[in-house]
Amino acid sequence: MAEHIRVMLSEKEVDARIQAIGEQISRDYAGRQPHLVCVLKGGSFFMCELAKRITVPVSLDFMSVSSYGGNTKSSGVVKIVKDLDEPLKDKDVIIVEDIVDSGRTLSYLMELLQQRGPRSLALCTLLDKPERRVVEVNVDYTGFEIPDKFVVGYGLDYQQRYRNLPYIGVVELE
Ligand code: IMP
Ligand code: MG
Repeated sequence: MAEHIRVMLSEKEVDARIQAIGEQISRDYAGRQPHLVCVLKGGSFFMCELAKRITVPVSLDFMSVSSYGGNTKSSGVVKIVKDLDEPLKDKDVIIVEDIVDSGRTLSYLMELLQQRGPRSLALCTLLDKPERRVVEVNVDYTGFEIPDKFVVGYGLDYQQRYRNLPYIGVVELE
């Protein structure tokens, strides 16, 4: 079966929203230096675009966790595949994620990173699927709330493909 990608959020819409979040974070963190923690691989495109639009000084770090196998359903198992390079002690940390779905990954991560003693810990996600929530998570910055559809692009993949699309699309089998 061939796959077709239907555009859900255009490049222009995504860019405009990231610009607005960048401005919001710059205001909220005035006089501070937010430490952006990117959750690989999905969060990487969003994090780079967001960081470019933040006008206060920022530092960056990366980590990788796995909650999904090769399929599109959450296994509920969260494992650290690559940990952060730097400690979080006394930093104003903002976790940057591609999407909050069941909430399992983020609720686990927030708890884990909280134990490392940051001065503050916030969560910024490009996409949120509130209908799918199983575990409660407090999201501080959301790009878009979207319906329960499997989406790709802007870092999000379907079997490791489509991360490089500059927009958010829905995979349709035809
Ligand atoms: P959660 O633990 O269920 O919230 O899952 C979060 C992770 O599942 C995300 O970081 C993505 O890697 C993946 N994921 C959830 N929904 C989608 C989707 O619609 N497209 C691609 N990946 C998704
Ligand atoms: Mg992710």
